[in-house]
Amino acid sequence: MINTEAAVLTAVGEPLEITTIQVDDPEPTEVRVAVSNVGLCHSDLHYMTGTVHTGLPVVVGHEVAGVVEAVGSAVTGLRPGDRVVGALTPSCGRCVNCEAGRATQCQRVAEIRHRPRPAFQLPGGRPVERLGDIGAFSRHILMRDNALVKVPDEVPLHLGCLLSCCIITGVGAVFRGARVRPGSTVAVIGCGGVGSAIIQGARLAGASAIVAIDLDEARLEASRSYGATHVVNGGVEDVATEIRNVLGDGVDYSFEAVGSARTAATALAVLRPTGTACLVGIAPDGTELRLPASDFFFGEKRLIGSYMGSGQVHRDITQLAQLYLQGRLLLDEMVTQVIPFGEINKGFEAMRSGDVTRVVVDLEQ
Ligand SMILES: NC(=O)c1ccc[n+]([C@@H]2O[C@H](COP(=O)([O-])OP(=O)(O)OC[C@H]3O[C@@H](n4cnc5c(N)ncnc54)[C@H](O)[C@@H]3O)[C@@H](O)[C@H]2O)c1
Ligand SMILES: [Zn+2]
Ligand SMILES: [Zn+2]
Repeated sequence: MINTEAAVLTAVGEPLEITTIQVDDPEPTEVRVAVSNVGLCHSDLHYMTGTVHTGLPVVVGHEVAGVVEAVGSAVTGLRPGDRVVGALTPSCGRCVNCEAGRATQCQRVAEIRHRPRPAFQLPGGRPVERLGDIGAFSRHILMRDNALVKVPDEVPLHLGCLLSCCIITGVGAVFRGARVRPGSTVAVIGCGGVGSAIIQGARLAGASAIVAIDLDEARLEASRSYGATHVVNGGVEDVATEIRNVLGDGVDYSFEAVGSARTAATALAVLRPTGTACLVGIAPDGTELRLPASDFFFGEKRLIGSYMGSGQVHRDITQLAQLYLQGRLLLDEMVTQVIPFGEINKGFEAMRSGDVTRVVVDLEQ
């Protein structure tokens, strides 16, 4: 067991508090990672503000990169010093979903995540929960070996951490979730970290038009640099009408990257007949959708969802790192602010402002 510093959430709606916690020794298939960088994802904010339930106290944070520090007795593929990116979706590789290439729906994930003792605890012995069994806002974390992916030395870790959540989620939703075809038209609702990655995925897929929709002018401006060909401010214009003005009967694919029933309904409304809407944003617990049934039977529209890129973490993160090195996936542009760990609460404030696409915390500072 080692002592480290972590940003702990003790009550919903309160700021994170940096305090000492104890990190258990790695189990046979676990790895202890010295965390270098973590991106601030809106999913962290959902737990912090209570829109999604969590046990308390908890360490949130999951968009993580760092360096392997110690490995469990059964770990063969990683060793101390390896530079790694973490994934929220460990998998068994053997259940029907894993065998079908749908590892984000591994049936044995609860079993895999189970460990005999708490990974984190307060000095008095009180267990501390971890978001997604990661809890990345800690200078040291424990992760299952197969949820860690090595990245090339040329990928800086303050950018590499984005591959772990917003990039794999957004690009995966395009390629593996909706399977966007070259030449098709795309709308993206919500242009934060995840939406910007969806826009980049649509560009990589060869979309002929990409419409970015947000309420924030700065986010809309940035979306053009990621590949948006049109922008619509959803707070000023009626999104479905505006898209029809520009693209006739609507788009072939739409992506919802906000997390609300209203924007999910917009995603369906902006489609042309036969189009596919893909829900990526995480809506508050208990959210239900009300949608016009005729869109499905007369309009032959499809509604799908995508979680963490719907795919294979190792292959996808490795390929995404290559796309970055080739200059085809923009990461430097997405991270214009790297803040010291001590300023993490200010980082969450900045995330709401729209001036940056992704705020990243440096845990080595
Ligand atoms: N499915 C998954 O695997 C997955 C993974 C990561 C994040 N998420 C979820 O995706 C969502 C986006 O995450 P993020 O980190 O990019 O968030 P973010 O805060 O960086 O971006 C959200 C964006 O949505 C915009 N927005 C808010 N309300 C809007 C509206 N009514 N219309 C248009 N735009 C609006 C905001 O201005 C902001 O630019 C969150 O709900 C998050 O929890 C899902
Ligand atoms: Zn995330
Ligand atoms: Zn499985």
